[in-house]
Amino acid sequence: MSLELCKFIDLPTILDERGGLTFIEGSNNIPFDIKRIYYLYNVPAASERGAHAHKDLHQVIIALSGSFELILNDGFTKKTFTLNKPNKGLYICPMIWRDLCHFSFDGICLVLASDVYKESDYYREYQPFSMAARQTK
Ligand code: TYD
Repeated sequence: MSLELCKFIDLPTILDERGGLTFIEGSNNIPFDIKRIYYLYNVPAASERGAHAHKDLHQVIIALSGSFELILNDGFTKKTFTLNKPNKGLYICPMIWRDLCHFSFDGICLVLASDVYKESDYYREYQPFSMAARQTK
């Protein structure tokens, strides 16, 4: 798996004088079936989240409100993404280490995930992740 697969997805949006409306229809707009949704909010500006990779999970991350930074790393290359638009989702394929930081006071991070929560799907230590990521290339 490589960072090149991690890309912004434009979510269908209807804007008029009453405001914006963005919708997500299961696998129509997202490259997997959504089995879980969770969100991070009230994240202190100095807080760092993430610091893990997933073995099999696919995710799309959306800044529903405010902004934050997402640093992705496939074991070889790092890339920083700023998320600040509620109608853009960042697709993250499996085997990508991610760090989230620099949340604005109103930052809300919505995560769409391809599976339910399974601790066995996590790499929470960087070293075993990077060894596995480099072997599967
Ligand atoms: P953690 O993975 O540390 O959050 P993040 O990576 O977003 O900073 O998760 C914090 C706690 O929440 C941890 O005990 C696992 C638990 N958790 C669930 O029970 N279900 C979930 O869907 C998620 C994402 C986490």
